[in-house]
Amino acid sequence: MVLTGVQRRPEFCFGAGTQYLGDMMLKLSKLATAVALVVAGSAAMAGEVEVLHWWTSGGEAKSVGELKKIMQGKGHTWKDFAVAGGGGDNAMTVLKSRVVSGNPPAAAQIKGPALQEWAAEGVLANLDATAKAEKWDELLPGVVADVMKYKGNYIAAPVNVHRVNWMWANKAVLDKAGVKSAPKSWPEFFKAADAVKKAGLVAVAHGGQNWQDFTTFESVVLGTGGAKFYQDALIKLDQKALTSATMTKSLETFRKIKGYTDAASPGRDWNLATAMVIKGDAAFQFMGDWAKGEFAAAGKVPGKDYICAAAPGTDKAYTFNVDSFAMFKLKDATAQKAQADLAASIMGTEFQEIFNLNKGSIPVRLKMDMAKFDDCAKLSAKDFVETAKIGGLLPSIAHGMAVKPAAEGAIKDAVSQFWNDDKITVAQGVKNIAKAAATK
Ligand code: GAL
Repeated sequence: MVLTGVQRRPEFCFGAGTQYLGDMMLKLSKLATAVALVVAGSAAMAGEVEVLHWWTSGGEAKSVGELKKIMQGKGHTWKDFAVAGGGGDNAMTVLKSRVVSGNPPAAAQIKGPALQEWAAEGVLANLDATAKAEKWDELLPGVVADVMKYKGNYIAAPVNVHRVNWMWANKAVLDKAGVKSAPKSWPEFFKAADAVKKAGLVAVAHGGQNWQDFTTFESVVLGTGGAKFYQDALIKLDQKALTSATMTKSLETFRKIKGYTDAASPGRDWNLATAMVIKGDAAFQFMGDWAKGEFAAAGKVPGKDYICAAAPGTDKAYTFNVDSFAMFKLKDATAQKAQADLAASIMGTEFQEIFNLNKGSIPVRLKMDMAKFDDCAKLSAKDFVETAKIGGLLPSIAHGMAVKPAAEGAIKDAVSQFWNDDKITVAQGVKNIAKAAATK
C-alpha cells in the first residue's frame, strides 16, 4: 500500500540519463529503509488491549464499539472482556478473581472511591505521562480529576458524566392518561401515576435488582430531603440524618412507588424496563441517562416520543456518575503502549463525542462542542455547571461515586431488602439502613 503511493510520485518516474537513474536508486533505497523502519516500529508497538466492562445493553454495546474501532484504527487488537450485569457488580467480582490469580486485564471499568482501593493495592499503572501530554488537568472538572488520581498521580481515564436523578416518561402514555407534563414533586408524581394506572398501563417500569432499587432510592432521598440532606445521609453517612424523620419520609415514598410497579419486575434487567417505556407499556422509569442510550438506539426523539425530566423534587440537584477505566500494571512494552493509546483515546475529542452521543451521557472533557447532542444532554451539561454553583452537584451513592464499596454494598442490600419485603416496617427499614451505613 505505502509503496503504491511512492511509485506514483513523479520523481521516481523513469527518465533519461544514468545519473538520474542512480539518484533515483539511492532515494528509493533510503525510502525503502525508512518504510521498513516505520512498518517494523508500528508492528512492534501494536499491542493487544483486553478491556473489562459491563456494557452489554443495545446502547451500551454500540458505545463501547466506538472505542474498539478507535483502538483498532491505531493498529491495536481489542480483546473484549464484557461481563453482563447492569451497575457492574458482576464485573467487579470477575475482576477481583482475575487480579488475584495474577492475570489482570489491560484495562477495566472501575469508578469512584473503588479506584483508590485498587490503587492502594499497588496494581494500577501510573497514567501521568499520557495525562501530561494530553493536558488532562486543564481539560477535566476538578471534581472529576480528583477521583482519577491517587496520591496526586493519574490512575484512571474518565469517559463521561452520567446524571442519575432522571425520570423518563413515554409521551404518548402520558397523553393517553391525561397527564399534561412531567410531575415535579412526589405528590404530583403519585397523581400522575394513579392516572396511568387508571388508563390500564404500568405506571413505573422497574427492574428489581438491588442496584436498580438503590438508584430509585437515592433519587427519592434527594427529592424528599434536598441536596444538603442527601449529602449528610448518603455521602457523610451521618447517623443523625440517617435516622431522621426525613429518612422515614423517604422510605415511605420509596415503598409507595413499589405499588406502581408490575408483578414481573423482580430480577428484570434495567434495559428491559426501559424498553417498556419505549414501547408504551409503561409510563415512567427512574434511571440514569444510560437509559437514553436505549431510547436513542431505538430511534426515539426526546420531547417528541419521550420526556427526560429530573426525578420529582430534584431539579436543582445533580447526582453524577463518572465512568472511568483504570489500567493494570503490565510488563510488556507493546501492551503499555496500547494502554497509553487507550487512555489518550478515551480523553480525545473524537471518542468523547461519538461515545457520549450513543451512551446518553455527556462528555467529561471540558469545552466540547455540544451541537450534535440532544436537549436532554444539553440540559444535563447546563445543570452540571449550575448545580455545582449552589451545592447541588452530588456523587451518586448507587453508582459507586460517594462512599467506599463496603458501606455502599451494605446499604444497597438493606435498601433492597426493604423494597422486597413488605413485612419490614418503615421504622425497621430506617434502622437497618443506618446500621448498614456504619459498615467499614
Ligand atoms: C452504571 C454505569 C453506566 C451504565 C449502568 C448500567 O453503573 O456507570 O455506564 O452502564 O451502570 O449498566
